[in-house]
Amino acid sequence: MPLFEWSDDYSVGVAGMDRHHQKIFDMLNRLHAAMLQGKAVDMIGNIIRELLDYTKYHFGEEEKLMERVNYVGLAEQKNAHGKFISLIEDYKDQADKGMGAFLSSGVSTLLTDWLKSHIGVMDKKYQKAMNAEGIR
Ligand SMILES: [Fe+2]
Repeated sequence: MPLFEWSDDYSVGVAGMDRHHQKIFDMLNRLHAAMLQGKAVDMIGNIIRELLDYTKYHFGEEEKLMERVNYVGLAEQKNAHGKFISLIEDYKDQADKGMGAFLSSGVSTLLTDWLKSHIGVMDKKYQKAMNAEGIR
């Protein structure tokens, strides 16, 4: 399981959002480190709860910025954010039921895909609209 190092390839051109995304990278790296040490079962529930709280906050802030600049991709983004939250909520329900031992690799895969395909592709598209309004 590789460590996910932040690079400019992931920058969305808005410093505040890059910081938020780096926190999500950090959560994935902590999960990977715990998996390598065989400790993921103990902490997966906490990671999932932290991820759920943080992504709700992050998506809210990101959508506010998109609204401010009348971003054309807002509806598509809200849809993707809603789907991601409901997947994490499903994992949280399973963790609450004591099924944590089975969740680490699914959460890891979900997050890895999210970093690559959402942040690395969909989020990068809002840079132009944000920067044009002085948000950078
Ligand atoms: Fe984002």
